[in-house]
Formats: sequence, structure tokens, C-alpha cells
Amino acid sequence: MMGMKRVLLLGASGQLGNLVKNTVPVSMHLKALSRADLDLTDRLAVSQAVQEYAPAVIINTAAYTQVDKAEAEEKQAFEINATAVEHLAATVSLDTRIIHLSTDFVFSEHQKQPYKPDAAPLPVSVYGRSKLAGESALLAADNVHSIILRTSWLYSAMGRNFVTTMIGLLNTREELVVVNDQFGSPTSAVGLANVIWRFVMEDTANGVYHWSDQGVITWYDFAREIQSQGLELGILDREIPIKPVPTSGYPTPAARRPFYSALDSSATEAVLGIRTTPWQEPLRKVLEKLKETQ
Ligand SMILES: NC(=O)c1ccc[n+]([C@@H]2O[C@H](COP(=O)([O-])OP(=O)(O)OC[C@H]3O[C@@H](n4cnc5c(N)ncnc54)[C@H](OP(=O)(O)O)[C@@H]3O)[C@@H](O)[C@H]2O)c1
Repeated sequence: MMGMKRVLLLGASGQLGNLVKNTVPVSMHLKALSRADLDLTDRLAVSQAVQEYAPAVIINTAAYTQVDKAEAEEKQAFEINATAVEHLAATVSLDTRIIHLSTDFVFSEHQKQPYKPDAAPLPVSVYGRSKLAGESALLAADNVHSIILRTSWLYSAMGRNFVTTMIGLLNTREELVVVNDQFGSPTSAVGLANVIWRFVMEDTANGVYHWSDQGVITWYDFAREIQSQGLELGILDREIPIKPVPTSGYPTPAARRPFYSALDSSATEAVLGIRTTPWQEPLRKVLEKLKETQ
């Protein structure tokens, strides 16, 4: 354990948290806490956990992520996504780094090319505003070196996300309608977990960064590719029609979504010396993994 970097992971049982936990490099000593171990809104418990473990780096993947429900639960969303983040920053010592996850939903559609980290945010939902407030709190805390890592359209082979949902629907429905006027970039959560570990290993980066897989598509394009690869891999055994619809033609969810929220990951590529891959490649790996577990 001597010489190993001490890393505290918050939100360890979430989609991304799970993958961060499962990809820990050998040079790291990880303490992974789920909500059951540590409620981020419990200020005292958070201070105690941080003091006891004295991490060099905190990875915060915990968040209120239910975009539609947040419209009716603004207080809870802000408590977890903003106030708790502010308290976390106030708790840590000067030499602790916080790597905090944020979202493309801080943007809307005021731009029609991938947003760079310094593009002006303009969230259009409670969730987006609460995440932006968390970012601002962290950036304002001058006692802490933080990385705000925004990502988009996260998916993995486990749990409920667009890919697992689509596979379920494509297997059971006779036809699907999918929105074709919201543009963004899918991101494999396992790829993002590796990017997070790279940020943990390098010690200098500071500020806002973006990470998503390469390509700007709609949910309809995403669904079509999931079907096509699913058929090739034998996860799906029949093809059903997928119809494109505009957002206005879809049963209205509570929260407004951005029409264009693709992220420009070039600053992350430069600082970490890595490249994004076309989104279809990580999708195949995730579908292969899903096939193993079927
Ligand atoms: N999913 C996406 O498409 C997406 C896109 C862009 C950015 N992001 C960001 O990426 C990060 C990870 O997202 P994800 O997909 O892994 O979300 P997730 O699966 O919903 O995981 C979030 C985790 O946070 C935990 N949590 C909620 N409230 C908490 C509290 N008060 N104290 C401690 N833990 C708490 C949740 O526990 P419970 O399950 O017990 O509530 C859950 O395990 C988040 O910051 C999210 O905003 C996600």
C-alpha cells in the first residue's frame, strides 16, 4: 500500500461508479462508497469520511440523475448536485483533487458545433441547472484543485440506459419511434472510466474538460445502429421498423432536452495524449459484453 495513491470514489453503485470501481489501476488504493455507505447530503458523515481516509483524489460520480423527475424535485436535485458538491469542496484539504462528473445538459442548442469546455452554458432543465450550479460551486472553491469532466449519453452493458432499454424494446415491440432532432454524442461508460483514471494519474490538469465518443448523431441514429449491431451479434433475432419522429411528435417528457449538446473532447485528448474513437466501436464492445451476460 505504501506509495499508492489514495482515491475515494463517491456514487460507487451507479452506472459509471461501478465501472470506475471495476477498472482501478494497480497503482491506486481505492475506497469506493455507495449511497448506502455515505449519503452525500449528510455533511458530517462526508467530512468524517474525507478526514478518515485522507484521499489524494476524490472521484465524484454520485448525482441526482433523473432528468424528468427533477422538474418536480428541484430541491432534492440541487441538494445533491450543487449544495453537497459545495460542502464536499469545503471539506477537503488543499492538496486533494476532486474529479467531478457533469453533463452535456448544461448546454441547449445555442451552438451547432461541438461545445468546447469554455462555451457559455445555457441549461434548459432543472437537472441541467442543478449540475451547472455544482460546477460553479466547485470552480469557486479556491482551496481545491478540481476537474469538472462533462460527458454525454452515457451507456454500459449493465443497468438501465439507452442501449439496454433499446435492446429490450427491440426484442419485444413490433415497431419503435425514436426522436430524430436531438443531436449529441454517445459515450461508453467503461471508456469514460478509463479517462477518469488517466486524469487521476496525471497531476496537473485543472478546470473543465469534456469526454464523449466520436461522432454527432440523433437518438434515432443510435437506435438504428444498436439494432444493426444487435442483429449481427445475434442479440436480436428479428428486425422491426424504427421510425424517426421529431421531439414535438413524441409523448411529452417533463423536462426539456437540448436539441444540440455534442461535446468537443479535444482538450482532454491533448492533455491526456489519447484519442476518442468513433462511437460505433465502443458500442460493439458493450453489445458483446451484453451478449456474454444474456
Ligand atoms: N447517464 C448519463 O447519460 C449521463 C450523461 C451525462 C453526464 N452524466 C453524469 O455522470 C455521472 C454518473 O452518472 P450515472 O449514469 O452513473 O448515474 P447513476 O447511475 O444514476 O448513478 C448516480 C449514483 O449517485 C448516487 N446518489 C444519488 N444521490 C446520492 C446521495 N445523496 N449520496 C450518495 N450517492 C447518491 C445514486 O444512488 P441511488 O441509485 O441509490 O440513488 C447512484 O448510485 C453523474 O454526475 C451524471 O450527472 C450522466
